Amino acid sequence: MKKVGVAILGLGVVGGGTYKILAEHKEFYKSNHNLDITVEGVLEKNRGRAIALGIDESKIAESIAEICSNPEVDIVVEVMGGVEPAKSFVLAALNAGKSVVTSNKELYCKYSHELEKAAKKNHCGLFYEASCVGGVPIIRALTDNLQGNRILSMLGIINGTTNYILTKMSNGGASYGEVLDEAKRLGYAEADPSSDVDGYDAAYKLSILSSLAFHTKVPYTEIYREGISEISPLDIAYGKQLGYVLKLLAIGKNTAKGIEVRVHPAFIKAEHPLASVNDSFNAVYLTGDSVEDVMLYGRGAGAKPTGSAIVGDIIYCATHSNFVYSPFENTEKAAPSTKFIKNFESAYYLRIVAADKAGVLSKVTSVFGKLGISMSQIIQEKENSDGAVPLVVITHETYESNINKAVAEINSAAEIAKVAAVIRVVT
Ligand code: HSE
Repeated sequence: MKKVGVAILGLGVVGGGTYKILAEHKEFYKSNHNLDITVEGVLEKNRGRAIALGIDESKIAESIAEICSNPEVDIVVEVMGGVEPAKSFVLAALNAGKSVVTSNKELYCKYSHELEKAAKKNHCGLFYEASCVGGVPIIRALTDNLQGNRILSMLGIINGTTNYILTKMSNGGASYGEVLDEAKRLGYAEADPSSDVDGYDAAYKLSILSSLAFHTKVPYTEIYREGISEISPLDIAYGKQLGYVLKLLAIGKNTAKGIEVRVHPAFIKAEHPLASVNDSFNAVYLTGDSVEDVMLYGRGAGAKPTGSAIVGDIIYCATHSNFVYSPFENTEKAAPSTKFIKNFESAYYLRIVAADKAGVLSKVTSVFGKLGISMSQIIQEKENSDGAVPLVVITHETYESNINKAVAEINSAAEIAKVAAVIRVVT
C-alpha cells in the first residue's frame, strides 16, 4: 500500500469538498488504487472550519513553512483562489519538493510559466484539472486523449455562475441580483463575483484551454472579453422568439489565418447541444480533425464536483512518476509567430429602437446594404406607448469592424433610430 500525504491550503467551498471526498472514500482508494491517502496538514485561518470538518487540531498548520517542512506531506493542494498569497505558497511547496494540485485558474492562467519552471526544476508534478470546468475532465482530455487531433475549434460554457444567472433570466422570474445572490450561496460565484459576470473567470479558463488545444501560449490578455451585466431580459425574449438561447460563450478557433479567442454573451441556435446546458452546468464542445465533434458536460463549479477533479489529480500524481508539463513552450507571452485574429467574423443580433416614421426602415436597411451586411431574420414589433418601434434584426456573418460601422452610422441618426443592443450570434 502506498502512503500519500496531502496538505490542503484553504478550506473554503472547494477545500471542504476535497476533504470530504478524501475522508469518505479513504477505504475505496485503499482497496481500488492501493493508495492510503491521508490529509497530513491544512492551512486555514478559520480554525473552526477545519474543526467542523472533523480535522484534528494537530493537523492545522500555522504557516506554509510548516507544511513545506512536513516530511509526511507529498502533495500540496492549493484551493485558496486569487494570486497572492497562493502564488508564493505554491512556489514554496514546489521548491520544497512537493507536487502541487491547484484549482486556481487565475493563478495558473497568469503564472503557469513560473510555476511550471519551479515544478520542472524540482522534479515535481503540477496538476490543474480543477482550474477549468470544475468536475469535467477537460484538461486531461486535451493533454492525453485528444492528442491525435489538431483541435480546430472549441465552444464552451465554462462559467457556472453566469450560466445559472442566464438560465434563470431566460425562464423569467427572479431578478439579476437575486439570482447572483443565490449563485453565491450555492458556492458557484467567485469571492468577487464581478470576475464571473464580467467574463474574467471564463477568459482565464479559455486561456488555459486554448493554449492546450492549440499547442501555443494564448495569454488571457489576447482574449476579447465582454460580460453579461448589460444583458436585458427583453433581448433574451426576442432571441427566444427567433429560435435562439443566450449563453456566455468562450470561443476558440484555430484557423489558417490565426487564432481567435473570445468570451462574450452570444445567441446560439436552440437545437445546438450547448443550448440545453443549463443552471450551473458547464460544457465544452470541441471539434478535432480526426475525432470530429466531442462534447464534455458536467458540473463546472461547486464543492464536490471541483473536489472530484482535485482528487483525480491527487490519484494521478500518486500513481505516475513521470510528470508531464505543457505540450507547448510555456512562456509568459505568446510566441512571436502566433497570430491572433481581432477583427473576427460573426452573425449579429441587433435591437434597434426606431421612430414610427416613414423612411426609418429604409435608412436602416440602406446602412446595412452599403456595408454589405445581409439580414437573415427580422422582427418589427408594434409601436410602444412612447411612440418607438422595436426592430430586431439577425444578420448573416460579417466582420466585427463592419457591424461597428453600421451601429455608429445608425446611431448618427439617433433622433430616428438608435441601436439598443448588439449581441453576437453563433451560427
Ligand atoms: N466561479 C466559477 C464559476 C467557479 O462560476 O464557474 C468555478 O470555476
